[in-house]
Amino acid sequence: MTPDTPGPLAEATPISPTATPAEATAEGGSLLAAVELRKRFGATTALDGASLRVAAGEIVALMGPSGSGKSTLLHCLAGIFPPDAGEVRYGDRSLSRMSETARSALRRGEFGFVFQFGQLVPELTCAENVALPLRLSGVRRREAQRRAVGELERLAVADVARKRPGEVSGGQGQRVAVARALVTQPKVIFADEPTGALDSLNGEQVMRLLTEAARASRAAVVLVTHDARVAAYSDREVVVRDGRTRTFG
Ligand SMILES: Nc1ncnc2c1ncn2[C@@H]1O[C@H](COP(=O)(O)OP(=O)(O)OP(=O)(O)O)[C@@H](O)[C@H]1O
Ligand SMILES: [Mg+2]
Repeated sequence: MTPDTPGPLAEATPISPTATPAEATAEGGSLLAAVELRKRFGATTALDGASLRVAAGEIVALMGPSGSGKSTLLHCLAGIFPPDAGEVRYGDRSLSRMSETARSALRRGEFGFVFQFGQLVPELTCAENVALPLRLSGVRRREAQRRAVGELERLAVADVARKRPGEVSGGQGQRVAVARALVTQPKVIFADEPTGALDSLNGEQVMRLLTEAARASRAAVVLVTHDARVAAYSDREVVVRDGRTRTFG
């Protein structure tokens, strides 16, 4: 239940549906909290009162059927789009009360992202791709490149540094994407089916490297996956069904 006692079967800590955001953060000292999120797309209800709490350094896996609202929850948590109702809190700040400029600064500075298909920039080398978020944060080219190569070494893909994404395997590309997510030393990594396009061996390798690197830098991870073997790398599994969260442990 606490981040110091991790393990796939760690006890769940659901937020009571009536908890206010203040209680939710004060109570567990969580880094990131979603409280009673609701989100519709036209006539479709994607989130119907979803709540989630993530402690600093905690690795949480979101599981559940297709269309249940996992990606929508992840996007709301990351401040990519706002919920219609409910609140997302990061530390003691409410994402919905921040300006879009402040939210994008938060995403750039404190969050890292890994998606199913690496979404690397094809024209850049792998090292340049990893250096990109640093460059966008104002780090000088040589320093950004040095840190990018260091991160690629940590993910055991230093050999692809000079290649372009089109010249590397799927597994290598995802490791480059993980390196890009980690290079800014984010507090939270959001990963939407990061192994969804990989075979099981590569998937497990990417998960092992992602979780080892996240633990080493004390980053929390919010991970969406369909695969129980991938979820086993998390501290806690949360099931999303019909736009609501259910925790079990
Ligand atoms: N941009 C959008 N426009 C319209 N409907 C959307 C949009 N995004 C999501 N939805 C709908 O909201 C619901 C939840 O979608 P979401 O992508 O969060 O599901 P998911 O659990 O991530 O599914 P999957 O496992 O297939 O990725 C679905 O019914 C989906 O069709
Ligand atoms: Mg999805």
